[in-house]
Amino acid sequence: MSKTDAKNFVVEPNGTIGVLGGGQLGRMLATAAAELGLKTIIYCPEDKAPAFDVASDHIVASYTDETALKKLAAAADAITYEFENVPVEAVNFLTANGAIVRPGAKALSMAQDRLFEKEFVNKIGAATAAFHPVDDLAALKTGLEKVGRPAILKTRRLGYDGKGQTRITADDADLSTAFEKAIEFAWAEVGAAPSILEGFVPFTCEISIIGARGADGDVKLYDPAENVHKSGILATSSVPAKVSDETADKARAVARKMLDELDYVGVIGVEFFVLESGDVIVNEYAPRVHNSGHWTQNACAVSQFEQHIRAVAGWPLGDPARHSNAVMENLIGDDVHQWRTLAAEPQTCVHLYGKRDARAGRKMGHVTRLKTR
Ligand SMILES: Nc1ncnc2c1ncn2[C@@H]1O[C@H](COP(=O)(O)OP(=O)(O)O)[C@@H](O)[C@H]1O
Ligand SMILES: [Mg+2]
Repeated sequence: MSKTDAKNFVVEPNGTIGVLGGGQLGRMLATAAAELGLKTIIYCPEDKAPAFDVASDHIVASYTDETALKKLAAAADAITYEFENVPVEAVNFLTANGAIVRPGAKALSMAQDRLFEKEFVNKIGAATAAFHPVDDLAALKTGLEKVGRPAILKTRRLGYDGKGQTRITADDADLSTAFEKAIEFAWAEVGAAPSILEGFVPFTCEISIIGARGADGDVKLYDPAENVHKSGILATSSVPAKVSDETADKARAVARKMLDELDYVGVIGVEFFVLESGDVIVNEYAPRVHNSGHWTQNACAVSQFEQHIRAVAGWPLGDPARHSNAVMENLIGDDVHQWRTLAAEPQTCVHLYGKRDARAGRKMGHVTRLKTR
């Protein structure tokens, strides 16, 4: 099939998927691709990346290196990304050089800016936290009047794992010196970068939907996972989530709408806050496989990684049904040193990412405990 017929383009077995980004998500995508008889070529700026160990080939180059990007476009039948801060220009350049990139630039660019992301979510009729764009201290004050306190100030771009955000509490009396100091501190905390102020959502729990849309428009959604964050980093994802069927359906409906509106091809991760009322509020989405979907590797016939590769390759999507309850726990920093104990636990699937230094806050691996009994 010709690449000019982008909608119907299929990567046949033995074909090659290019992946922008070489972290653990790229590593698990490459493993899933290999299971389907597909090769992977990883493209990333780091010269030792977790995905290299298991991929067929790799290119080490910056995302702005046009010669290297052309090489990738020529080597891969279809290209995807595992990292949402890949410059949109790289994706546009690849597409202009005849490559099929799934998901495309629209989903990527929207997810890179928290303001555009929230505006998009509201436009399709889904709720977000109250928000206000902040470009200076005056806008921060106006924003606080609008969204109330407590509030969270987040940089519009490049935040992850709770980085690039700071909380403004409700304690400081209005217009007191303490209040002035608190907001100046918050503004400095985000590096005076273009930001967004969000009202604090009094959620009862956080859930996420991992969804996929095929090139043919078929949508498959996994069961919602219940997520617990510690210090802004995902700690555990559990299925089933302790939410009503109505709440799960509301979240599924939003994820489906997002996939369709973005004309999306691939796996998406949508994070939600659940309110006391059972309503859901979109926190953010990731245009890629998502940490809160790692449980699908062991609790579903088709994991989120295989599902993403199927979508990118133009294959039929797989069944997202869950055959087991599960709790996924991230191994962060020193946690990874428990590997021996974890490996000896019954019904526990250990996944390590091959990273050398167990630095604090670094995702080193995860375990998924199946709860079949
Ligand atoms: N508006 C909010 N109200 C309440 N909690 C929030 C809000 N925004 C973020 N959080 C908490 O911080 C976590 C990380 O924030 P998030 O916006 O998802 O950033 P990141 O991109 O770093 O994952 C969320 O999962 C949630 O626990
Ligand atoms: Mg998040």
